[in-house]
Amino acid sequence: MLDVVILAAGKGSRMQSDLPKVLHAVGGRPMVQHVIDLVRPIADRIILVVGHGQDQMRATLAGQDLVFVEQTEQLGTGHALAQALPVLDPSGTTLMLYGDGPLIRPEDIQALIQAGQAGHYALLSACLPDPTGYGRIVREGQNPVAIVEQKDASQDQLAINEINTGLLCAPTQSFAQYLPALSADNAQAEYYVTDCLAMAVAAGQPTQAIVTSDINSTLGANDRIQLAELERVYQDRERARLMRDGASLIDPARVSIQGRVTTGRDCIIHPDVQFQGHVTLGDRVVLGQGVILKNTDIASDTQIQPYCVLDGAQVATGSDIGPFARLRPGAVMGPGSKAGNFVEIKNAELKAGAKANHLTYVGDATVGERANLGAGTITCNYDGANKHHTEIGADAFIGSNSALVAPVAIGPGATIGAGSTITKDVARGLSLTRAKQMTIEGFKRPTKDRK
Ligand code: UD1
Ligand code: CA
Repeated sequence: MLDVVILAAGKGSRMQSDLPKVLHAVGGRPMVQHVIDLVRPIADRIILVVGHGQDQMRATLAGQDLVFVEQTEQLGTGHALAQALPVLDPSGTTLMLYGDGPLIRPEDIQALIQAGQAGHYALLSACLPDPTGYGRIVREGQNPVAIVEQKDASQDQLAINEINTGLLCAPTQSFAQYLPALSADNAQAEYYVTDCLAMAVAAGQPTQAIVTSDINSTLGANDRIQLAELERVYQDRERARLMRDGASLIDPARVSIQGRVTTGRDCIIHPDVQFQGHVTLGDRVVLGQGVILKNTDIASDTQIQPYCVLDGAQVATGSDIGPFARLRPGAVMGPGSKAGNFVEIKNAELKAGAKANHLTYVGDATVGERANLGAGTITCNYDGANKHHTEIGADAFIGSNSALVAPVAIGPGATIGAGSTITKDVARGLSLTRAKQMTIEGFKRPTKDRK
């Protein structure tokens, strides 16, 4: 049984925020969500110790199979972990993490768990060029024997550059034994979980400090400057991942990944592209400059030209979108379909080979295979109270500047003349509504009055 305890009761005063610190986002997800997502596959249970802003925490993280434990007063990390003791499985292993450390690596966690499951009192450490502010690891020979907090450290101890990251793992019974014996007799008058290490040594338990090879992974955020630094590290990592997966980023620093993205091979991503939510790209997808994709799937061999915004869209293979197109939730583009400049599509399907090349609004509609919507076509889907559907058959041709007043159906192969306002169903042939053209011979333009 592996219990994972995430400490998240602190206030995070330096954020100057109404939001609890661990709910501040990195890569579009709350910091604590990163931690939860990382341990979810390996944890039997995830226990969150909450205090400050706990209502917001419970609301934001609702429905995720978490055990919430309340720490009413923030009396220190040892006190925080002790609040979780009653719900932990006494015969299992406990891994303790911080909710404000979203960059931790799975391999470091795995190493900690292995050591903990082998009966060790194990913690993760890092060697920093500037260890200021952190607890220092005191070793005797190979073995860590104590952690000394910055505020309690001697001059000699301050010179140690191996620091405590805060992550630790041990048999749950070790914590059950040590935590109740902690005292708050230190510079901050807090119960330090870090004091358990010396107790483990005294009890004859083997101890281990695993040094991470990636010091960035242990960064936490106490203020917004550090939060921005975490964001940068996270973005670098994510961009490197996309490149390793076979995507070319023309200017990596200008691609922003706010969410979860998977790319196929040979995708090309131009500058200023932003991803939000869940986005998948097939092979050979090209994203032009300034494209924003949110909760959208793009199949292989599709081109999204510059400055398109797609939200909740499905785009099939070989399609061509933009520039300057907007696809809203429920937009479904069939294979080889086209949505050109200044085209908006919402809750509508364009089937294979259908085209809306210019200045068109398609909402609550089905557009059949190979149908062509001329420039300025509008589906009038809203009567001021309700939305209505427009059905356009395969191979239909809608002339430019036509308004299709829903509910209305245009049959397969039917033609609508340019400038028509269509309010009745059209089965076949050419339909149009248009005032007759006339010419007034000898017409003279007005001239300006002489004063
Ligand atoms: C802690 C460690 C220090 C380590 C550093 C790494 C202790 C005593 N010190 O120091 O050795 O180098 O982390 O970042 O553990 N929390 C609670 N309840 C509390 C106190 C804290 O839930 O009563 C949570 C906070 O929300 C935070 C985490 O525990 O997520 C760490 O607490 P913090 O006060 O930031 O510890 P540090 O002083 O940074
Ligand atoms: Ca801290």
